[in-house]
Amino acid sequence: MAGVRIDLTRVEERLAELAALHPLDGLGSCRLALTDDDRAGRDLLITWMGDLGLDVGIDAIGNIVGRWSAGADEPDLPPVMTGSHLDTVATGGRFDGALGVVAGLEVIEALAASGARTRRPVAVAAFTNEEGSRFAPDMMGSLVYVGGLALEVALDTVGIDGARVGHELDRIGYRGARPVPGPAPHAFVELHIEQGPVLEHEGVTIGAVTGVQGISWQELVVTGQSNHAGTTPMALRRDAGHAAVAIAAGVRELVSVVGGRQVGTVGRLHLEPNLVNVVAGRATMTVDLRNIDEAALREAEKRLSELVTEVAATERVEIASRSLARFEPVEFDERIVSLVESTATGRGLTSRRLASGAGHDAQMMARVCPTGMIFVPSRQGISHNPAEFTEPGHLRAGVEVLADVISTLAADPDPGPGRAGAR
Ligand code: GLV
Ligand code: MN
Ligand code: MN
Repeated sequence: MAGVRIDLTRVEERLAELAALHPLDGLGSCRLALTDDDRAGRDLLITWMGDLGLDVGIDAIGNIVGRWSAGADEPDLPPVMTGSHLDTVATGGRFDGALGVVAGLEVIEALAASGARTRRPVAVAAFTNEEGSRFAPDMMGSLVYVGGLALEVALDTVGIDGARVGHELDRIGYRGARPVPGPAPHAFVELHIEQGPVLEHEGVTIGAVTGVQGISWQELVVTGQSNHAGTTPMALRRDAGHAAVAIAAGVRELVSVVGGRQVGTVGRLHLEPNLVNVVAGRATMTVDLRNIDEAALREAEKRLSELVTEVAATERVEIASRSLARFEPVEFDERIVSLVESTATGRGLTSRRLASGAGHDAQMMARVCPTGMIFVPSRQGISHNPAEFTEPGHLRAGVEVLADVISTLAADPDPGPGRAGAR
């Protein structure tokens, strides 16, 4: 049942409505996980799902799943699931995550409006705390959904502001009754903006995502001796700020030594007491290392550990490190990757295969069912920034390809090809 007609205006209006809850610099939006802004976004979604007549469930980590069975010939079969996340980084755009959720709703609404029948139900999910910038690890809701992180551990996670996941879920009223891990869908497909420059640079509209690179996040706490900036001779300092900056510079160097597709980022650095005339006694920093190649990522981690040991000795500081997230690279289901490509071609759209540099809920869902992703271009490759933008024509293309791919998968025989039925 290819050729579903979607309503782009409805998609854009919903993205605008979500962004308007806490707008930033024109197009941008802030809905940090489990804040009041996140609650407001969830409330909107619940309203939209209710208006569509979906069967809405909220699980114990706050994931929201709306299931459409009314058009299914076999409503009890595992659904084809789509979706993404509604939380943003603090400096978010309006597309990262929200597009995948709003697009999932649109696909269901378009199928329902056309009177389409599917064999299987279709479900749309909004997973809790995909971004991980308030509470690590990222992709927390989908990870718990697939049984990769114990619920109690997730609920006990303390965020950068001292808040606890379980407490915040209760506070915003989104600790649901559905058990986790949740049931494996028949397949999972997520539409997302690329968040990188490749598609725009090559003038290609649809990315058929082959997988997601491995992610390693560490937090380092450097402890030195806070002291007077004027009276303490350089040779006698134990300067946590200087040690942190040496590590940041060393991360750049180790990334170039590992080479290839290795990337590394020091995205958070906090000095204490953070005053002009005081040598910093303490520095808290994060290091984000990613690579599509697991062996190379391990090499980067080993070099980081050596760097930390060396800086601690040279600067006479103590450095404690803690893993915030560690996920191996993921490969998506070949049948779904090809289906995205052939669907794009069938719609007269250009496409190419590419791996994702960003983390996504789909990489967790890939543990329990055949999974794939569809990317659409990001203007100038900018994301995690209010300037994030995707042209309306590209949004339309992405939602239409998603609709066709879901329709095809929803027609699969039982248990279906590939790893369908895996739990
Ligand atoms: C999540 O968006 C990540 O890739 O950090
Ligand atoms: Mn995202
Ligand atoms: Mn993101």
